[in-house]
Amino acid sequence: MDKRQLHNVDACVFDAYGTLFDFNSAASAARDELGDDWQRLSELWRLKQLQYTWLRGLAQHHADFWQVTGDALDFALATLRIERPGLRERLMKLYLELKTYPEVPAMLHELKSRGMKLAILSNGTPAMLAAVVGNAALEGVFDAVLSVEEVGVYKPHPAVYGLAAERLKVAPSRICFLSSNGWDAYSAKAFGFSVVWCNRFGQAPERIPATPDGEIADLSALPTMLIR
Ligand code: LAC
Repeated sequence: MDKRQLHNVDACVFDAYGTLFDFNSAASAARDELGDDWQRLSELWRLKQLQYTWLRGLAQHHADFWQVTGDALDFALATLRIERPGLRERLMKLYLELKTYPEVPAMLHELKSRGMKLAILSNGTPAMLAAVVGNAALEGVFDAVLSVEEVGVYKPHPAVYGLAAERLKVAPSRICFLSSNGWDAYSAKAFGFSVVWCNRFGQAPERIPATPDGEIADLSALPTMLIR
């Protein structure tokens, strides 16, 4: 099999943040207030947000992604000693309006026109996901927008990946899962999905179980990789 092609794929399931939606676009849109700190803030915000999902999972102290995202932002703002009235609220609102990466809408419409089932599987709450999908005018493109809130634990718990297979009524091996987060891509492969790692940030291979079936730098190459 050509390593660049995946056969027998009935559904594509996408991670949301960092894969379809650019989490840096929130801090970037507030550059007028953040100045040169915007990138450091964005990086720390994201890093801490993910850490909190894993910490809460291990400690069995689940709180939804809206709270975790706000807590991580508070940590990042305090670390960088940024205090500006209204800035926290502004950044949280911007998180509901994240931009898609440029190739995303055309890629989704191409897959949809071929009859591919499409879904999102994300840590985000249903309200957060509805907001970004609606803001990007992508309603109607997805057969399902699935939140970890349905299982009450974050990725990479296998119950999260299982939710997608169950809801789409597609066997895991016939689902192509896409994430820009290496740890998410590797864990989804370990669960049993076919996986293409959208390695947008040129990250080194993870040292955790399983290896994705393919790797691409952005999602524009995806439609040509999929053979039904
Ligand atoms: C998500 C995070 C992991 O959307 O990016 O689930």
